[in-house]
Amino acid sequence: MKQLHEKISLEGRVLSEEVLKVDSFLNHQIDPGLMQAIGEEFSRRFKNDRITKILTIESSGIAPSVMAGLIMGIPVVFARKRASLTLTEGLISAEVKSFTKQTVNTISVSGDYITADDRLLIIDDFLANGQAALGLLDIADQAGASVAGVGIVIEKGFQPGGRLLRSQGVRVESLAIIDSLADGKAVFREEAETR
Ligand code: G4P
Repeated sequence: MKQLHEKISLEGRVLSEEVLKVDSFLNHQIDPGLMQAIGEEFSRRFKNDRITKILTIESSGIAPSVMAGLIMGIPVVFARKRASLTLTEGLISAEVKSFTKQTVNTISVSGDYITADDRLLIIDDFLANGQAALGLLDIADQAGASVAGVGIVIEKGFQPGGRLLRSQGVRVESLAIIDSLADGKAVFREEAETR
């Protein structure tokens, strides 16, 4: 997605060979115009898949998901990473390992909002090791919902998440795939190679 590539090139800061900082439009400050374009692109890619709901994870998955949900005319459910005062009954939970932080977190959604009648599009901001996406797929599975695919804003193609998910037969649509962050520069995979 050209607009996203340009934004990453212009405003992304390469913190190391593994980490890209995109706080100015995705992870802290949010660019609503770009989020709208991202929502339109997810909507275009999944328009024939009879999606009933978007499933994402707090916090940075919410903005692109809400835009996609608005354009597709469907609700958005976000998995919580922390216990909620009001969300206590009928929870569906999964464990998410963080390689970066060496921790295991429990993520949860209410069984009221993801059911066996749903066909889900899972959306997240980054795909690195794939653990968050696997946790969301686990929740979908426990709820008996089907999953049409996973939509990712930025995939780090040099980390194993994309390969892991695709090898399990999951359709992954990433709007930008970065193959390298060496020499302080993001190198994008060409569109034709992303499938
Ligand atoms: P995984 O889900 O693919 O296995 O990711 P991993 O454990 O490696 O990453 C944990 C967190 O770090 C996730 O956000 C993920 O989105 C984020 N992350 C991974 N690589 C990068 C990167 O290069 N740049 C940025 N900016 N973030 C990255 P989180 O902690 O759940 O944060 P948030 O959604 O609350 O913002």
